[in-house]
Amino acid sequence: MTMRKYFLSLFAVIIACQAYSQLKTYQVDAGKIKAHIQPTMYGIFFEDINMAGDGGLYAELVKNRSFEFKTPLMGWKEVKEDGADGSILILNRGEEDANNPRYIQMASKSSKGYGLINEGFHGMGIKKDDQYNFSVLAKVPTSSPVNLRIELINQKGEVIGGTNIIASSKEWKKYTSSFKATETDPKASLKVLIDGAGMIDLDMISLFPQDTWKQRPGGLRADLVQKLADMKPGFLRFPGGCIVEGRELETRYQWKRTIGDIASRRMIINRWNTEFAHRPSPDYYQSFGLGFLEYFELAEDIGASPLPIINCGMACQFNTCELVPLNELGPYVQDALDLIEFANGPVTTSWGKKRAEQGHPKPFNLKMLGVGNEQWGPQYIERYKIFEKAIHAKYPQIKLVCSLGPNPDGEVFDELNKTFRSLNANILDEHYYRSPEWFLSNAKRYDNYDRKGPKIFAGEYAAQSVGIASPENKNNWQCAMSEAAFMTGLERNADVVNMASYAPLFAHVEGWQWTPDLIWFDNLQSFGTPNYYVQQLYSLNKGTDVVSLTLNNEPVTGQDGCFASAALDNNSHELIIKIINTSKQEQKAEFSIKGVIPGSKGTLTVLQSDDLNAVNSLKEPLTVSPQKSEIGLDKNLVKLDMKPYSFNIIRVSIAK
Ligand code: AHR
Repeated sequence: MTMRKYFLSLFAVIIACQAYSQLKTYQVDAGKIKAHIQPTMYGIFFEDINMAGDGGLYAELVKNRSFEFKTPLMGWKEVKEDGADGSILILNRGEEDANNPRYIQMASKSSKGYGLINEGFHGMGIKKDDQYNFSVLAKVPTSSPVNLRIELINQKGEVIGGTNIIASSKEWKKYTSSFKATETDPKASLKVLIDGAGMIDLDMISLFPQDTWKQRPGGLRADLVQKLADMKPGFLRFPGGCIVEGRELETRYQWKRTIGDIASRRMIINRWNTEFAHRPSPDYYQSFGLGFLEYFELAEDIGASPLPIINCGMACQFNTCELVPLNELGPYVQDALDLIEFANGPVTTSWGKKRAEQGHPKPFNLKMLGVGNEQWGPQYIERYKIFEKAIHAKYPQIKLVCSLGPNPDGEVFDELNKTFRSLNANILDEHYYRSPEWFLSNAKRYDNYDRKGPKIFAGEYAAQSVGIASPENKNNWQCAMSEAAFMTGLERNADVVNMASYAPLFAHVEGWQWTPDLIWFDNLQSFGTPNYYVQQLYSLNKGTDVVSLTLNNEPVTGQDGCFASAALDNNSHELIIKIINTSKQEQKAEFSIKGVIPGSKGTLTVLQSDDLNAVNSLKEPLTVSPQKSEIGLDKNLVKLDMKPYSFNIIRVSIAK
């Protein structure tokens, strides 16, 4: 570098530093309401990817409980205690039970323990003193009763809990027993043994913790649901994601197969089983123990509006793009209509009755439905039109979500955008898996959207630290902070953007296929990423009405690296200011408030790290986590020393 260039760049740095260190006065005019914020604004996108469902949220501890994996004994191993002798057969009932055809026959010839051991999902997470519920479908082909010994085994091979069952029924019968674990182990396994000589047929071998969410038998993992409840989400989108589509139509998501008796919910391969060669998951299947009733109940439990997505007659366009001919779309459309009846219909309707039979007579108040997941092209549009006509003919009040494809720009996006707008579509689902820089430079994305057109659902987004679906992507602070900055743009445009959700939601630390993800877990614990805290903070500090916040009469969309928005909360009578300082300089700010009378005190919540690469982990879950303190006001002025790389939320009470 020449001396001249050196001094010029030094001079530029000094000028920039001066700009950052100058006190900036932001004007907040709470009398100028810009938009109403929908209660649905910040929600959750759930998909059974990364072991989010089986092996994750669904608390079943036994993998391949009904022997329906392609390899029937995957997850199971034969056990011969002290040289015991026996045999195991895989039997098939065929049409007698087409949804659950396989079962096993175990025969023991000696007096020693003989049977199987199940490895769980990367082990079974067992907690000392917690109660575990074992159940099995069994029948005894001979006249002699069989003594089943059930044992939980820790990683050292020691017994840490167990029970005995004597089976004597010649017909299929469900046997249950409960026991307490004596030790904690994140990777226990379960032995199911015949004690003594005998023969028995077994199916649906199951073990659940008693301590599930709301203590529901066969329910969901309480700590993971709690993480969702803590977000106070506005909506729950389910069941995905590409899982709706299937790699081929055969493996698409069919909601009717996911309700009712769990033994009759036909298990199929999970489409993420084979998706990524770099993360093979040969044991990833869908038991549908977490099915549509459970999704609706989950939404209800956490106060979220349900948003189911249905297959529109198209398999995943990144895979086979298998299409249902238009004249054979009838059953697919009927599935959509029946789903609405299942969710909302009185118990006198046939699907409302099924809901009631499953223990939920009260309707779920479904208001939105997604037609297709991440579809595009003319084939999608022609299928969408058929769905839309049939659904709105019967249920005109249901808002339909339609896809704008996998990218937020480009020819495919433009075409879909133009077409769906011309069709007066209700809600457009945009997806962006882009770099942190993209998020920063798109904070104004919605500023010029048509205010009278369809509403926007930012249905899947996440900043990618390396590149889309790269296994090297990290949930680091840079990504989370850029999402926070971008979200000021969602909030400022809440009249157009009605819903937003980060994706994907969950990942098992050993069983993932896709990263980054919002919440990570192992078999016993979970942690929220910095991105989780960004989502949570937006949701908990949503407010009801966007108000004007400007710097030099302009919205704050990146000036000196700052992004900001403000909202009134008419329920709690507070003013909420969000400001993100994405620069590495500390910055001095003051907010001059008019249009309301603020109190003399408020709170400041800060999510911050000096290190853009900072991440949370199971060992250090709170490295980047919100810190709350009190702040004082000087009449209508709030002063804030913004730390570098910080997301700041100010809440001040206002006179009613
Ligand atoms: O979130 C992961 C995947 O990304 C979703 O399944 C799909 O809709 C998108 O391509």
